[in-house]
Amino acid sequence: MTSELIVRKAKMDDAARVAELSGTLGYPVSIEAMTQRLGRVLPLETHTVIVAEISGNIVGWTHGTEQELLELGCRCEILGLVVAEGQRGLGTGRRLVEAIEQWARGRGLDQIFVRSNVIRPESHPFYERIGFERYKTQHAYRKALRDP
Ligand SMILES: CC(C)(COP(=O)(O)OP(=O)(O)OC[C@H]1O[C@@H](n2cnc3c(N)ncnc32)[C@H](O)[C@@H]1OP(=O)(O)O)[C@@H](O)C(=O)NCCC(=O)NCCS
Repeated sequence: MTSELIVRKAKMDDAARVAELSGTLGYPVSIEAMTQRLGRVLPLETHTVIVAEISGNIVGWTHGTEQELLELGCRCEILGLVVAEGQRGLGTGRRLVEAIEQWARGRGLDQIFVRSNVIRPESHPFYERIGFERYKTQHAYRKALRDP
């Protein structure tokens, strides 16, 4: 098995490791829930989930989507990106984002966006280093639609 970094589309079999890495991102999720989510997302042509693998071990993943906004038109947004602790700074994040960019270009999209939480200071120089420009700062709001 090669020890070089391979970037490929995610498969249902990847659910356990994708869930584990989601936990390191701060979003713990069970394997069952991730299996259901991947089952819904992977068939969608407006979504792409990419994993990075070394020697058969998944060391990172990213999820990109095509969205149509009335005010902006069609664009690509990165919804999630994580590289395993201990594997960072080796070019994996860059390769994952490049894969999303390639997918988006292939769909005729000409803009790519990502929102990055202020509590992720490592991601800010990363995005700027790979060509993204910080253009605004937002507040994020949420509201429960069911009683807990
Ligand atoms: C952000 C993250 C995905 C970056 O992945 P990575 O594999 O470490 O990044 P890369 O090794 O591909 O780095 C690409 C470039 O960014 C630079 N970079 C990466 N992290 C950096 C940091 N913390 N500070 C300064 N530069 C950084 C690298 O030096 C590299 O530059 P170079 O190509 O000129 O050498 C990773 O740190 C991570 O998973 N963090 C936790 C989750 C997270 O923040 N996700 C983003 C959610 S929006």
